[in-house]
Amino acid sequence: MTQTTTDEAECGKPSVAIASDHAGYEQKSRLVTFLRQQGYTVVDLGPDDDSRVDYPDFAAKVAGTVASGQADKGVLVCGTGIGMAIAANKIAGIRAANVTTAQMAALARQHNDANVVSLSGRFVESEVNEHIVITFLSTDFEGGRHGLRVEKIDALG
Ligand code: RB5
Repeated sequence: MTQTTTDEAECGKPSVAIASDHAGYEQKSRLVTFLRQQGYTVVDLGPDDDSRVDYPDFAAKVAGTVASGQADKGVLVCGTGIGMAIAANKIAGIRAANVTTAQMAALARQHNDANVVSLSGRFVESEVNEHIVITFLSTDFEGGRHGLRVEKIDALG
């Protein structure tokens, strides 16, 4: 079941929880500013500087916020996007996709109903990640045969 916060119900834009590790800090900070300029409500769950941190701690903050319905979607940024996606997917109800192109972002929403996008701060340019996030936040799940498959994912545990 897809949860919707008051933000999405009232203004049509999903609310966003975002976090990074040190490797994704710079791009995360840019994305917070960019998304707010675009009219999104953004909860920045840290970190507050680029000191070395462990990515599972920050992936868990975003995953928990989305899973509990306090935000509609989540954005994660680490060096590759891989570690944070793996960590976020440990939380029940989270479907986190490690995405490096806008087309993958669209498909992660259309086919997988992904609710968290995990980005690479080291291998993907900032402008590309902006395009990825806007595509992710503005693309709907197609349902139908994809819905049955997502139900099978959920049934795995
Ligand atoms: C940190 O060096 C790096 O391992 C992390 O940002 C991420 O890429 C892990 O998947």
